[in-house]
Amino acid sequence: MEALLPSFFFTLSSLSIFLLLPPVVSPFTVIMSDSSDPSALVDAPQNGLPSGKAPIRTDPMEQAAIYDVMRATGNGWATEIPDVCGGRWHGIECMPDKDGIHHVVSLSFGALSDDTAFPTCEPVRSYISGSVTKLPHLRTLFFYRCFTSNPQPIPAFLGRLGPSLRTLVLRENGHVGPIPAELGNLTQLRVLDLHKNQLNGSIPDSLDQIAGLRSLDLSNNRLNGPIPRLSLPLLNVMDLNQNLLTGPIPDSLGSCPSLIKLDISRNRLNGPIPDSVGSLADLMLMDLSYNRLNGPLPGSISNLGALQAFVLKGNPMGPERVMPDRGLDGLKSLMVLVLSGMNLHGPIPESLARLPSLRVLHLDSNSLTGPIPWAFKSLKNLSELRLNDNRLAGPVPFERETLWRMKRKLRLYNNSGLCFLSSSGIEEDWTADFGAGIGACDSVGSVPEGTVQHVSESENGDGHEKRNVPSSSSSSSGATILKLLLSLGLVEFTALLLLLNSVLL
Ligand SMILES: *[C@@H]1O[C@H](CO)[C@@H](O)[C@H](O)[C@H]1NC(C)=O
Ligand SMILES: *[C@@H]1O[C@H](CO)[C@@H](O)[C@H](O)[C@H]1NC(C)=O
Ligand SMILES: *[C@@H]1O[C@H](CO)[C@@H](O)[C@H](O)[C@H]1NC(C)=O
Ligand SMILES: *[C@@H]1O[C@H](CO)[C@@H](O)[C@H](O)[C@H]1NC(C)=O
Repeated sequence: MEALLPSFFFTLSSLSIFLLLPPVVSPFTVIMSDSSDPSALVDAPQNGLPSGKAPIRTDPMEQAAIYDVMRATGNGWATEIPDVCGGRWHGIECMPDKDGIHHVVSLSFGALSDDTAFPTCEPVRSYISGSVTKLPHLRTLFFYRCFTSNPQPIPAFLGRLGPSLRTLVLRENGHVGPIPAELGNLTQLRVLDLHKNQLNGSIPDSLDQIAGLRSLDLSNNRLNGPIPRLSLPLLNVMDLNQNLLTGPIPDSLGSCPSLIKLDISRNRLNGPIPDSVGSLADLMLMDLSYNRLNGPLPGSISNLGALQAFVLKGNPMGPERVMPDRGLDGLKSLMVLVLSGMNLHGPIPESLARLPSLRVLHLDSNSLTGPIPWAFKSLKNLSELRLNDNRLAGPVPFERETLWRMKRKLRLYNNSGLCFLSSSGIEEDWTADFGAGIGACDSVGSVPEGTVQHVSESENGDGHEKRNVPSSSSSSSGATILKLLLSLGLVEFTALLLLLNSVLL
């Protein structure tokens, strides 16, 4: 028994990382049932080693069902195994009941990683056998890259999977057609992951019946229609990115108070951001980019004290006022703010300099005018700043130290009137790295008051390290952000996992 545990644990943990589940939901509560589960099963799942001297006995009904399911995926070899719970293949887990009869609790397919080699599916003819509904103790059903060469709808009979089902993953399987409303009958589900299929039609309202749902990932499909009103008190992750969803962001989002990650980017959503998002006290990542949302941002945004990344890029909200009256004050955890390509006009809000945790700020490709606020000098943690492709003017408020810190992650090119102060000491470093075409400010007259200081030249440690000229093509900013966050050691595991998906812009 003891010897079994490591591999079992390993499987679970890599699975949960793959699903991008935040650690607040422990993998064990997600993937296995907890002790409050009324099922008659005892002990921990086993990969087929007898727990005592007695040989394993699998429930005969379930055994026959497993043969069917395995045959349907081209894994006929399994039918040679006289006792599937003793079969010891990765991808099946069983638990005994009090009489020592073993029941199948988890079934997984697809080459997830080198460490978790679940049985693969025969590419051309595989399908999901209806016999999966004859596994009443099943908690996890997992198919990954299984039916890609045999595109088929998600069968409605999955709605009849047993009452113990906690996790249903049908990821990158090439499924076509609608999401069956019957999935709403899986009321004990915690994880529903249909990522990257070719599902169309609208998101069924019936999903609102799954009161215990923790993670809903319907991203990378062709779902259309509105986002349904979902009031799911325990939902941590809602990922609907890259679909064809239309209509407004429903204010029922406020009835999902446990949300940590909300990604509805790359859809066709319109209308304003509802006030109710301000009640999402645990929200850490909000990605609304590439929609057709209107401004201004609701004032309630400033209640999001846990928010670490806010991505609004590609919503042409301007030219009218977009920032709420209080600015973004209150977002004290905000590290990443991406407001590129939003048709923003007017000056850069000075209030952005009051975001104490800010590390990454993108305001590029707008029509911002006026100077870079002098207060930006105080953003000592700022490591990436994009102000390129605007109409900013006046002196760049940074000194050599800041330039060295940001290197290629400072982008100022294509602004009408930015210049640098000779007093800043950056002159000799000023190359195309930072902003081609930006010259020295021609008169002291343009220097804001109280800023004429001479920079100490004492920090010559690695001051002259090589800098690369930035490629004009898009560098992978997402990877950069991640590396940055990693290198600063700032973000806990949670945030990294949450960011992974979406900040890869
Ligand atoms: C399952 O859900 C569908 C549609 O949501 C419903 O019509 C059907 O009666 C349900 N079936 C069971 C067995 O509850
Ligand atoms: C979904 O796509 C199929 C073709 O793949 C099409 O026949 C069907 O009408 C579509 N359904 C909806 C609701 O868009
Ligand atoms: C920079 O980040 C550190 C670590 O998160 C924090 O303690 C510090 O207050 C921040 N500095 C500024 C100037 O905000
Ligand atoms: C400069 O930025 C403006 C947006 O302010 C953009 O419209 C224009 O295409 C950019 N020019 C170049 C050469 O990229």
